[in-house]
Amino acid sequence: MDKFFIKGNKNLNGHVTISGSKNAALPILFMSILTKKIIKINNIPNVIDVDIVIKILKNLGAKIKQKKILYIDPSSINNFSPPYNLIKKIRASIWVLAPLLTRFGKAKIFLPGGCNIGTRPIDLHIHSLIKLGAKIHLEDNCIYASITGRFKGKYIFMEKISVGATITIMSAATLAQGLTIIDNAAQEPEIVDIANFLNTLGANITGAGSKKILIKGVLKLKGGTHRIIPDRIETGTFLVAAAISKGNIVCHQTEPKHLKSVLKKLSRSGANIYIGKDWIKLDMRGKQPRSLNICTGPYPGFPTDMQTQFALLNTISKGVGSITDTIFKNRFKYVAELIKMGAKIKINENTITCYETPILSSSNVFCTDLRTAATLVLAACIAQGITIVNHTHHLIRGYESFHKKLNKLGADIKIV
Ligand code: EPZ
Repeated sequence: MDKFFIKGNKNLNGHVTISGSKNAALPILFMSILTKKIIKINNIPNVIDVDIVIKILKNLGAKIKQKKILYIDPSSINNFSPPYNLIKKIRASIWVLAPLLTRFGKAKIFLPGGCNIGTRPIDLHIHSLIKLGAKIHLEDNCIYASITGRFKGKYIFMEKISVGATITIMSAATLAQGLTIIDNAAQEPEIVDIANFLNTLGANITGAGSKKILIKGVLKLKGGTHRIIPDRIETGTFLVAAAISKGNIVCHQTEPKHLKSVLKKLSRSGANIYIGKDWIKLDMRGKQPRSLNICTGPYPGFPTDMQTQFALLNTISKGVGSITDTIFKNRFKYVAELIKMGAKIKINENTITCYETPILSSSNVFCTDLRTAATLVLAACIAQGITIVNHTHHLIRGYESFHKKLNKLGADIKIV
């Protein structure tokens, strides 16, 4: 499944159920290494990146049963050096480091892979673990780490807000000796979900979701059950699908309060938004949206993972709109593909300017990462004629059954 044939000129209408959050599920799976008791996790999304983390955990020795609920028995984990071929596939692999150090006092991890959205440094992860007592050196693309005894709790001020590094510190501090304070921490909902999961297992974490997280180290963790939060980026992607196709879509089993900045921009584009306890409806009522000026930022700011989808929205909207990405400076590889479909977009450093192009034309386009793939599929759903979207394997890394969900909303996507 690496190529879609997509018929355009579609209005997308109907109901879609949102899956669990990939970016909460991946770190939570790695946190299972911190305990020896059984863990049960609900609402795990069926995506490739989760499959890769499960393969890594099984390679480390964990016993895993995957039904509607995911059962993990981490008691048999006996390996502290996961294989290159798995670690290399995803950025999330960096989150295996701190739990392995906690469990074995040593770890050997190849440098992680990840989306092609610019360099993906891990200096904040490494420096933080060293501050907490680890000895770490990099050699031949590999991280060699060790620690005598437990991590020691510390006050850590994050020079740069980092979701990944905040998670790494939280996982190292959970079983550390003493108190760790993460100042200028990332505040994403996924961070809160991870803290809730660890507290269910007996951790003592307060302040997650704010700029200051306090973690009082405990001696050991027990087992427990957890339900992963809904995927806010999948939700935002389907809401944009309604807006660009002048349609009307209801997203179910989602969390509106995780999308405040996105909903604010969508209503400013002229969309009619209705929200309930666990659902969001966007009704464009057949109108052309209005262009927006957006600047991405750490949560609760506008998410960088919605940048590509809103570039498409701006392209077909009335007027001229700009988007500046302050998180990833060159997350614009998709622009060339949208231009092949007739879009008029200019790039200037980390800002794009989109000029009104209400009608896109079909083309032969290529995905370069997860969010680009979703955006090009949506662009093809509204373009004139049949568009071929290549390298759609990026999509299934983070969107569960994306083409099936879209076809149920009126799209016409065939897999080649
Ligand atoms: C997480 O990536 C997400 N990935 C990304 O989603 C998301 O875009 C990003 O957070 C920002 O919200 C996962 O959760 C698996 P960061 P992460 O550390 O942790 C720099 C998707 O599409 N930085 O918050 O890698 C970094 O280069 C993906 O689902 C360092 O300089 O992001 C970036 O400019 C894409 N040194 C900024 O910080 C470090 O050690 C924020 O990155 C770490 C990060």
